[in-house]
Amino acid sequence: MDRIRIVGGNRLNGRVPISGAKNAALPLMIASLLTDQTLTLDNVPRLADVEQLKRILGNHGLDYSVDGKRPGPEVYPGDTVHFTARTIVDTTAPYELVSKMRASFWVVGPLLARMGEARVSLPGGCAIGTRPVDFFIEALKQLGADIDVDAGYVVATARRGLRGARIVLPGVSVGATHVTMMAATLARGETVIENAAREPEIVDLALCLNKMGARITGAGTPTIVIEGVPRLEGARHAVMPDRIESGTYAMAVTMTGGDLVLEGARADTLAEPMKILRAVGAEIDETNDGIRVRRNGHGLAPVDVITDPFPGFPTDLQAQLMALVSRAEGTSHIRETIFENRFMHVQELARLGADIKLDGQTATVRGVSGLKGAQVMATDLRASVSLVIAGLAAQGETTINRVYHLDRGFERIETKLGGVGAEIERLSG
Ligand code: UD1
Repeated sequence: MDRIRIVGGNRLNGRVPISGAKNAALPLMIASLLTDQTLTLDNVPRLADVEQLKRILGNHGLDYSVDGKRPGPEVYPGDTVHFTARTIVDTTAPYELVSKMRASFWVVGPLLARMGEARVSLPGGCAIGTRPVDFFIEALKQLGADIDVDAGYVVATARRGLRGARIVLPGVSVGATHVTMMAATLARGETVIENAAREPEIVDLALCLNKMGARITGAGTPTIVIEGVPRLEGARHAVMPDRIESGTYAMAVTMTGGDLVLEGARADTLAEPMKILRAVGAEIDETNDGIRVRRNGHGLAPVDVITDPFPGFPTDLQAQLMALVSRAEGTSHIRETIFENRFMHVQELARLGADIKLDGQTATVRGVSGLKGAQVMATDLRASVSLVIAGLAAQGETTINRVYHLDRGFERIETKLGGVGAEIERLSG
């Protein structure tokens, strides 16, 4: 199993290209099941989760081809991939596949809308809480589907097709919003989704679906209106830049000091994290090709942060922020409101010398003057990258084991960080 070795202490200076967003690429790929024509996606990131989803969608009959040859380890723009689900050959998503990635559960929406049936295993994914699917089931029922949960599978049928409805989602859920929006594109009549998630990835999916012929308005607000159409067509769409990757590198340079331009990063998707990072001590400017983040000399200030759905502070940056403020001059409080169990990084950060106390869903982080390198274990995707950030600033050597978690969501992190001054390498095997 690969490990990552970091020797801390270097400042980060230069330019980091931001990849296409994992959390946009996955639903966009799944949307290709809605049409028998080709959906071409540009700026697709090379991530383990993307590869895994290609395999899962292949099981349903999706073919794909990638433009161009695979270059070496140097920095390159994202892939262009053509996805075609000419014929759906199987409407079952088996446990062996869905358990590897929670988002693959989302195929339930397009399969049901296009084929009138779907049998999808209850999901797995990151071990960060129970992550139920009750909102999805409720929404699909409202669209006219019959749903049974049988032997670990959600069995959904709508023999006469789906029909538009007014759906009030019981809680803000990114996945339930994606799925309801996709399913409603092919329903008869109008669907209104209330209490919809407002994440930028929802907007990206709506833009792409509209290029495919859907009629969606209001994405990015709590009320999304979808006028159903009989069929969708092929289209071409570029995956939006990854705001979590952007925020992660912004935190890394705030931690180490230095001056980074995050090429392609979109400031409009990062307002709250930028506000927090400024409070911690970063100088941040929008440039014409991205975001510039600097910190020179000054110490880090503590902050109090609560995670929230967009436009609040993202749970997907919570672990990285905790690593950052572990070296602040004072005490920070970080409250996690989206997922229980999303504190697995705490004990690993403690190995590096961080002083963090947990009380329910709130972490109290007393800043220490320095971290010291150690052997640590990646436990989930965002937790593992927080260890990278801590390692960059720790004195001496940090080795992070189980980096396959990192490869699920961060494209060539060692190449990108190595290119801006970090001493970081991947140790294979
Ligand atoms: C997505 C993101 C993930 C991010 C999360 C929150 C992708 C691929 N993943 O995950 O990176 O951390 O949004 O921003 O985009 N819930 C229910 N019942 C449901 C559905 C959700 O109770 O049927 C709860 C969840 O347990 C959680 C909350 O709603 O407490 C939000 O989860 P949700 O927004 O659905 O997360 P995902 O879409 O899985």
